[in-house]
Amino acid sequence: MLDLRGKIAFVTGAGSVGDDPDATIWGNGKATAVLLARQGAKVFGVDLRQEAADVTKAIIEREGGTCATRSVDMTNAKQVEAAVEHCVGQFGSIDILVNNVGGSAPGSAVTMPEEVWDSQLDHNLKTAFLGCKYVIPVMEKQGKGAIVNLASIAGLSMSADRAHIAYSTTKLGLFAFSKSTAITYAAQGIRCNTVVPGLMHTALVEHRLAKTIGANDLQGLIDRRNAQCPTGEMGNAWDIAHAVLFLASDEARYITGTEIIVDGGLTTARSNV
Ligand SMILES: NC(=O)c1ccc[n+]([C@@H]2O[C@H](COP(=O)([O-])OP(=O)(O)OC[C@H]3O[C@@H](n4cnc5c(N)ncnc54)[C@H](O)[C@@H]3O)[C@@H](O)[C@H]2O)c1
Repeated sequence: MLDLRGKIAFVTGAGSVGDDPDATIWGNGKATAVLLARQGAKVFGVDLRQEAADVTKAIIEREGGTCATRSVDMTNAKQVEAAVEHCVGQFGSIDILVNNVGGSAPGSAVTMPEEVWDSQLDHNLKTAFLGCKYVIPVMEKQGKGAIVNLASIAGLSMSADRAHIAYSTTKLGLFAFSKSTAITYAAQGIRCNTVVPGLMHTALVEHRLAKTIGANDLQGLIDRRNAQCPTGEMGNAWDIAHAVLFLASDEARYITGTEIIVDGGLTTARSNV
């Protein structure tokens, strides 16, 4: 089940904010890279910060897996193209692409500076576009491949007290991006789906949100996020990684152009009020 032996996985944002090698709370890309490697895939992990990707590589290698890394800005076409060539040169193919890079910036249509709007579109949409632009031709030659894009429930459910208009817009845009890609390449054996995380207890919460929206009160922030979830607690990066693993695996061979929402029922609960 969910056997990825013989497959090559290209994972973007394979590091995690907070690079402490002993950290137990990880980002989604890091957990995904490690889980895919545990299932037998050889992982090519790219990250803006080589040192973050190398922490992931060390974990995978310590567990007996195979991982290569490269410092790549996923918003830069030349760097993405070179990374894809590097991966194919080293491992011979790309069977799985996980477009994990993304993140939010606060602001409404009025308060968000134009340059932040532009950089959010690059960070959340162009990164997936460039990943697909250079990896899909490799998958077309192989006649198979699985792509998983990481969105967010911020694209489905808005909060009146915390606008991040570009994040909500781009993350919902990824639904259409995935569906369009899925239908265009379905006949070539390439699948494309979206994983939609809810409120997750990831490294982001510990290292960034505690400062930006948590007034430096990490436990208070965790308590507030847990209280919003119907299950009483946030999910974590492993919950996302398992959804990515399923969609990337051959068991999901007939699933394309759709989403898995991993939010403990949060969007359903919100839509019922
Ligand atoms: N953490 C959450 O609670 C949460 C919730 C909903 C959705 N998501 C989505 O999950 C994905 C991963 O989020 P996370 O919080 O786990 O990630 P993260 O913030 O821990 O970042 C993962 C890695 O991406 C790298 N990165 C940033 N910009 C990059 C670029 N331009 N090119 C290459 N690498 C880059 C960072 O260096 C970092 O190591 C994102 O798309 C995010 O929007 C996360």
